Amino acid sequence: MAPVEEPAIDLPDGVFALGIASGDPAADSVVLWTRLIGDLPDLVPLLWEVAFDEGFLGLSGTGIVDTLADFAHSAHVVVAGLQPDRWYWYRFRVGGQVSPVGRTRTMPAAGQSGSGLRIGLGCCQRRDGGYWTAHDDIAGAGVDLFVWLGDFIYSETSSQPIPGREHRSKDPVDLAGYRARYADYRSDPALQTSSAAQPWVVTWDDHEVFNDYTSATIDPGRRADAYQAWWEHQPTRLAAPADTFEIHQFIDLGSLGRIVVTDTRQHADGSTLLGQTQRDWLAGALDHTGSWTVMASSVLVGGLLAPTQREPLLAYTWDGYPEERAWLAEQLARHPNRICVSGDLHVAAALEVRADPADRLLPVVATEFIAPAISSSFLDRYEPYLPLIPLTNAHIDYIEAANGWLLLELTPGKTTAEFRFVADVTVPSPTLLAGPSYEILSGGAMDRSG
Ligand SMILES: [Fe+2]
Repeated sequence: MAPVEEPAIDLPDGVFALGIASGDPAADSVVLWTRLIGDLPDLVPLLWEVAFDEGFLGLSGTGIVDTLADFAHSAHVVVAGLQPDRWYWYRFRVGGQVSPVGRTRTMPAAGQSGSGLRIGLGCCQRRDGGYWTAHDDIAGAGVDLFVWLGDFIYSETSSQPIPGREHRSKDPVDLAGYRARYADYRSDPALQTSSAAQPWVVTWDDHEVFNDYTSATIDPGRRADAYQAWWEHQPTRLAAPADTFEIHQFIDLGSLGRIVVTDTRQHADGSTLLGQTQRDWLAGALDHTGSWTVMASSVLVGGLLAPTQREPLLAYTWDGYPEERAWLAEQLARHPNRICVSGDLHVAAALEVRADPADRLLPVVATEFIAPAISSSFLDRYEPYLPLIPLTNAHIDYIEAANGWLLLELTPGKTTAEFRFVADVTVPSPTLLAGPSYEILSGGAMDRSG
């Protein structure tokens, strides 16, 4: 590996204060991310290095990436030519400053399952809702891949911010505002730790733009600004947003299966949740020969029945699109080992997915787990009703207001799901608690195991 010289450019101190991340891993490549901050020239060249070891004794790849003011000096480096199913270390350097060191990894090669994969899942990190201790737990848990299910930032400030966790930027309405909000979130040490600990795969929900926005209610310019800022701050393989910006994708896990990541926010318009383009794509994405499918949806797939079933309780979820959910169930039913993962609700839950949740005679087409929020809270006034939900929702095995994250462990014959909780997000060092765990044997139904 021929050495590449570090750009000799005089920059203000602290250009790496927003940390680093990696994402969208394949068997032979991964994306490295950072964003430089400070008073910077329009173009700043940056050295990146990928090594086989933590001490950077053996370099696997190195090069220069130009960061531009037009894209907030963000870097998205696709590093190719890597070996499958192994860990790498990476960092950036410029003008005598060195970024923190990150750990990333490739996925198993086609036809290989390796020794299985530990996949973390999380969502809903309202900064002014509390501390992100869950991220420290994720970073220490030996996770191979972390999937983000939406609400990376909250564009609106809470009416009751947790002391010490207030937003340090104005509520955004334009590109500069969204960039400042992401910089605020990305400077959190716990988030930086879990961003550097393993590769991420990211989708969004509504708060990356505005609470409950739809294409009909949001100003198109503001939405474009929010999408650009999202792109600038995520370790995504996608090119920068242009006229259209489709973020659905899948990540192949060798013969272990595939993570299929949907966008259930951008195209939702009352008649479709996915939009026709994504729907056509999804049918193909779910059609593969690996052992497991993990389908990520920001919003609940399997449904929540109101005591009187006249209209859906949560019309913005798949409940508001019964025809599309029936179509999805048909796609899911072609393969025995389907797991849905969703976020948004600020609860932990496990449930069965059917074409129609009210019809118990229909076959179960997937098991769904709802990942709890990293720090956003469940509304106190609804909490007393949660224990009643399984009484009128026989397809819901478990539901509880909680903060934390979800760990899925995939092996060829078995998947385990384990909820990991944080007792109190309003204090800096809360107790960590083990939540319930489930086991799904290949070809079988879910079983609560702990
Ligand atoms: Fe949320």
